[in-house]
Amino acid sequence: MTPTEAVVDWLADESQIPVLGVITLAPWGDSRCDLAARASSLGSIEQVQQRVRRTLRSTAGPRGDVHLTIGIGVIGAGRMGARHVHTVVGSLPDAAVTAIADVDGARAHEAARSAGAASAYVDAQELISDPAVDAVLITSPAETHAELTLRSIAAGKPVFCEKPLATTADAARRVVEAEVAAGCRLVQMGFMRRFDPGYEEIKRTLDSGRVGAPLAMHCLHRTPEVGPYTSEKHTTEALVHEIDVVRWLLGEEIVRATVFTPRRTRHAAPEVSDPQVVLLHSEGGVLIDVDVFVNAQYGYDVRCEVVCEEATVALASPALVTLRHAGLESVAVPKDFRARFSVAYRRELEAWVRTLQADLAPEPSAWDGYAAATVTDASIDSLHDTAPGQVRLDAPPPLYAAATGHAADAYPALSRRVLSACKEDARGKGARGRMR
Ligand SMILES: NC(=O)c1ccc[n+]([C@@H]2O[C@H](COP(=O)([O-])OP(=O)(O)OC[C@H]3O[C@@H](n4cnc5c(N)ncnc54)[C@H](O)[C@@H]3O)[C@@H](O)[C@H]2O)c1
Repeated sequence: MTPTEAVVDWLADESQIPVLGVITLAPWGDSRCDLAARASSLGSIEQVQQRVRRTLRSTAGPRGDVHLTIGIGVIGAGRMGARHVHTVVGSLPDAAVTAIADVDGARAHEAARSAGAASAYVDAQELISDPAVDAVLITSPAETHAELTLRSIAAGKPVFCEKPLATTADAARRVVEAEVAAGCRLVQMGFMRRFDPGYEEIKRTLDSGRVGAPLAMHCLHRTPEVGPYTSEKHTTEALVHEIDVVRWLLGEEIVRATVFTPRRTRHAAPEVSDPQVVLLHSEGGVLIDVDVFVNAQYGYDVRCEVVCEEATVALASPALVTLRHAGLESVAVPKDFRARFSVAYRRELEAWVRTLQADLAPEPSAWDGYAAATVTDASIDSLHDTAPGQVRLDAPPPLYAAATGHAADAYPALSRRVLSACKEDARGKGARGRMR
């Protein structure tokens, strides 16, 4: 069943919404063509969409939980918050930033003003409770993620949570348990590398089977500099990206992590071990070395090579051109994460909004956030006592049975059974849903 068919079924089953409303709920190309024919007598698709939006907004009765434009509340108006707000405002026609919260009130107000958001809050709980907020996007510091995600789940609101889900596996586990208790997956993790065209191509190549089994991986993660940092943040802020992408590319869990600390750079704060070299072992025996250097000065540099039985596959330089000048050949290195992963940041939020519109299971999921946190826990153990850290990860609950899927599969539909369970749960609790 396509996402469009799922939405049409749902409308037919449960709502009094005129069928015309499907037009605005269907962002997929095929259905647009089909619906364009039906709507031709009514004007352009855009005109029909506007008319339906106006009609439904003005006629929404007790079932006023139908939101054709997803209202997004952003918690944390710093670097990443600004990046995501920019994407929502500039690139996501079916979403709008309706509120922004930041403990720095002036920052919240300025961000809300520039995003055209109606409300600015200092208290994130007020944003979560705001009826204009259908879904919550968390870009506050890592230590706040688990608690804010739990509060959003308690309010029945879907979450896009920047990495990491939590700074400890215990805290991340509580988010998983809250989703399991709700019977519904509400959290998408901000592991944007899964939406990067280069990583997607590696994934497709590995999955094709034509290069044989993966044997080893060489990963590198360098940033020019960081703000206040600790040796542990190396793991929860930087290494966590590598952990997620390794799990995803290999389709295997990581079972062991060993952290090595070479001579530290003079550019790091005195108590911070930078760079760090980490060895990860997958359950299938793949050995992964990761070079993490967060004060590398020269630029933002992410590399990945997978050594397979018949080939190697690696990310190419993200530079679009090679410059030959004055006797030298050069390619530019991105200045920071925004320059390197701008496409992935847009695509992950597009996927999130589509997932919300169509009631699909979000990926990467809270389980992915939890699984990554078990590896960061093990890495921090190793950092502290230099012995290999053992990863303690249970089998995923049935709710995450599809957790090994990936974005390149184009949003696998949530099974009808799970969808129904979610709807029943929402009805039973009287939760204010978005599109259940
Ligand atoms: N996916 C990526 O590539 C990527 C890149 C950078 C940052 N991040 C993640 O994004 C998150 C934010 O990072 P950043 O660089 O934007 O940090 P930042 O310091 O620039 O911004 C954080 C903002 O959150 C606000 N804040 C702090 N506590 C808050 C609370 N309880 N409620 C509301 N607001 C609060 C701060 O005042 C600040 O404005 C981190 O989790 C980080 O790991 C991800």
